[in-house]
Amino acid sequence: PSASDPWRPAVHLTAEKNWLNDPNGLVYHDGTYHAFYQYNPRGNSWGNMSWGHSTSKDLVHWEQQPVAMEASVDEEIFSGCIVVDTNNASGLGSAQNPPLVALYTSAYGKNGALPQGAQAQSAAYSTDGGTTWQKHRGNPVLNLEPTNNNFRDPKVTWYEPGRYWVMTTVVADAQVVKLFKSTDLLHWDFLSDFSGVGAQGGLWEVPELLQMSVEGSTARKWVMLLSINPGGIAGGSGMQYFVGEFDGTRFMAEDAAAPDAPLQESQWLDYGADYYAANSVSGAPGGKPVLLGWMGNWDYAQHVPTTPWRGAMAIPRELTLVRGEERFELRSGIAAAAREVLERGEETSKDLTVSSGSEDLGTDFAARTQLIDLELDLGTAREAGILLRHSPDAQDGLRISYEKDSGTLKVDRSNAGTSNFSEKFSPYHQVTGRPADGKVRLRILLDTSSVEVFAQDGQAVVTDTFFPDWDHVGASVFSMEGETAFAVRSRAL
Ligand code: FRU
Repeated sequence: PSASDPWRPAVHLTAEKNWLNDPNGLVYHDGTYHAFYQYNPRGNSWGNMSWGHSTSKDLVHWEQQPVAMEASVDEEIFSGCIVVDTNNASGLGSAQNPPLVALYTSAYGKNGALPQGAQAQSAAYSTDGGTTWQKHRGNPVLNLEPTNNNFRDPKVTWYEPGRYWVMTTVVADAQVVKLFKSTDLLHWDFLSDFSGVGAQGGLWEVPELLQMSVEGSTARKWVMLLSINPGGIAGGSGMQYFVGEFDGTRFMAEDAAAPDAPLQESQWLDYGADYYAANSVSGAPGGKPVLLGWMGNWDYAQHVPTTPWRGAMAIPRELTLVRGEERFELRSGIAAAAREVLERGEETSKDLTVSSGSEDLGTDFAARTQLIDLELDLGTAREAGILLRHSPDAQDGLRISYEKDSGTLKVDRSNAGTSNFSEKFSPYHQVTGRPADGKVRLRILLDTSSVEVFAQDGQAVVTDTFFPDWDHVGASVFSMEGETAFAVRSRAL
């Protein structure tokens, strides 16, 4: 980041130039994290969809690599996944040198293998650790009859009890997840459909089926992640999830919201406007799913004022599955590898009590990029919080607040910089919940054009982009109509 590229994130993945959206083909291989992603090599808005590629050792510092698979007139490369084919079951590598196999969506153009507009699943492989990719000759490997224009987003997981791969895909505009199985990654047989529960929204996209251990027990459950657009909890694009069982054929969600229930009854991975298409890193170490998500929303992503790049990934997260009071719930935290980097710096701390007013935290907390741990003890106050990236007179800024009576955590970006690029850039996002001990604990990852607020140890997350003035770096806490005790810890990044 610099005054001439003021919204370039410091600790989030971006491409040096041009448009990016969904993360694709996330895989951990030979000690390196690979992120591929929907990328336009020729422009700063969606189009010419190709797979860009970046690598990282620690999930914070990324190095951009050459484009892995480039769009052509006959085929764009939409979202998909990568697995390491350890036993060379596909035959696309060798026993000595097992291939990386990508399953992706072919979106056909002129003179493609299928009619223009059709979408089907294809395979590609790499025998040099992910640097170069060859398309499989028999593509597509999976097509629907009749051919469909919204059949996409393959994500593959290994199903040990049956010793086969399971692929989730969507027929996006029919709000259906379709499951298939294969023993060689090239021939796929239909297993079942998953539909009719949870928020329906417009399109269903980028599904994933994950097996997870239940925290503090030996039980395991299956989790379905699903992106929907529009119809997310914060408007536009959003991500919901379902917890249940998978018997090798069918995924059965338990305690899922009815399709016509209020959106609040569905389970959401994030309550902000900018978390979409997240999927997990295949083979990630550490035993917990590590998720990378796109920090964008189709409502306005094409109009955000950044140049020559547009689009960033959220901080990699790890998921934990816990038994909540009524049903199983996911908790999100910053992925361990990234956390280690972000927590490395020296911590600055300040404890203070504010009554009916605000207090500037001073230059120690004036970093554009910082990891803040904030604890609020609301005492007599009605509402309290923190104002970040504000002007010297504190008349603007990103406002994160908690209101006691309603138990509402709110992230308000309505007066936090440039926002006139789209009428759909929604002003604020919120989630309700009541801390058991009355103390609100927020872990806030602030970067130059985004904030990720992890509330109460990751019970809820709010991820939002915003575009503040470069020289607005103020940070203040405030307490309204009463007294609040604050403990603020921050590490500049
Ligand atoms: C989700 C999505 C996917 C598709 C890709 C195209 O954001 O629409 O369904 O594969 O983006 O770029």
